[in-house]
Amino acid sequence: MLDTILDISKRRGIIYPSFELYGGVAGFYDYGPVGSRIKKNIEDALRRHYVIGEDCLEVECPTLSPEDVWVASGHVTSFTDVMAECEKCGEPYKIEQLFIDAGEQAYGAKISDLKDIVEEKGIVCPKCKGSLGKLYDYNMMFQTFIGPGKYKTTAYLRPETAQTTYIAFRRLWEVARKKLPFGVLQIGHSFRNEISPRQGLVRLREFNQAEIQFFMDPEDKTAPKFSEVERIKIQITDKKDREHDLTLKEAHKKGVIKDKVIAYHSGRAVQFFKKIGLNPGKLRLRQHHDDERSFYSSDTWDVEFESESYGTIELVGIADRTDYDLSAHSKISGEDLSVNIEGRKFIPHVIEVAYGIDRPFYCMLESCLKVEDKRTYFTFPRQVAPYICSVFPLVSKDGLLDKAREIQLKLKSQGLFVLFDSSGSIGRRYARADEIGVPYCVTIDYDSLKDETVTIRERDSKNQVRVSFDELSLKLSSPFSSL
Ligand code: GLY
Repeated sequence: MLDTILDISKRRGIIYPSFELYGGVAGFYDYGPVGSRIKKNIEDALRRHYVIGEDCLEVECPTLSPEDVWVASGHVTSFTDVMAECEKCGEPYKIEQLFIDAGEQAYGAKISDLKDIVEEKGIVCPKCKGSLGKLYDYNMMFQTFIGPGKYKTTAYLRPETAQTTYIAFRRLWEVARKKLPFGVLQIGHSFRNEISPRQGLVRLREFNQAEIQFFMDPEDKTAPKFSEVERIKIQITDKKDREHDLTLKEAHKKGVIKDKVIAYHSGRAVQFFKKIGLNPGKLRLRQHHDDERSFYSSDTWDVEFESESYGTIELVGIADRTDYDLSAHSKISGEDLSVNIEGRKFIPHVIEVAYGIDRPFYCMLESCLKVEDKRTYFTFPRQVAPYICSVFPLVSKDGLLDKAREIQLKLKSQGLFVLFDSSGSIGRRYARADEIGVPYCVTIDYDSLKDETVTIRERDSKNQVRVSFDELSLKLSSPFSSL
């Protein structure tokens, strides 16, 4: 499956490794012309899910920030992985990955404990069997500088969008009319200098995030719309590795998911993944172990996907970040970030819903790929398909080419993303559109000249219907109706 996805992706401009001309660099991928369209549609669907569906505000902040931000957030000291290099060949290793490969668990263990396990289990360099050197903490942030000469200051590329949202809390609080709760979405690039990225879009050094920070009153972490998700049934693994197959309502009632607001946002994430075409049967909900959680979180749950190619992939993390971040920024900046509601002064708590975009993108490719005897295609929902249709003249003579161009122009003038294809047989043109998941093909034939009708062929069923020129755009142009 992975080979088929990568083959189509490279040939048809969905995704491909960056910097190929110079030999490539691990952990960087380009979204090609088709992939960029799909990615933007995923981001837009997410925007609709949260800005329309949850009344969130949306912001966009710089990817580079001064050192103070990351000192306050704790990333300068704690955003680390334990690593070691092979003493013989010099290969660097993330110890957690080596342990996973060796069937061991290493969450949260101290360097001294990890060192003991390396020795006890005889873990060596998988490449040359050399022994591993000293274990040490490796900070995953990319460091750089802002400004020249005496103005030069240390800075970091952000490893998460979240902090850049928190920094502006005072302004956002005003925009939200000084009421809690309110959510703030930020979609953008983040950067992590991973030790050895090796799983395509699953682990990138520059990646795309969509993180929502819900600022809440700690005494009122409720979920008023819980009934909209309570019937979602999902396989759940709690922090003690106990398995449950429950609806979200049951999971909350039985205390498996203690906080209703976390159960609610897990359900909303599942709804989102279904909308963009992920196979719902492959989605799971897993609570982080106590020693696995990030330093800022009191409880974290991931929605995961069982990928055929990469095993379990974390798609979104839902974390109770308490008042950790706002308190830290208050302390280091000297600005009071508390709020006063009816005489109660407190620092708001944050429930964070942190999506990656690249991973759901890959899981969507995997979920939507169909390989049949005579054709290979993607069943992308039309909300996220790269183009809504491809327009074909049956032949390129007798005025059909011009008429097809006219129809394409009309659809484009209505803001639709439309392809045009006049080369090769109609069968080949269907195949080309199917291969990048275009939901409809519109053919202009001799009857079109007589009665102003066209044929629309639907990708998955291959059914064809005849519609008038006037009905055509209506038929194609309600891509967001189900959102
Ligand atoms: N903001 C959470 C994360 O980046 O994992």
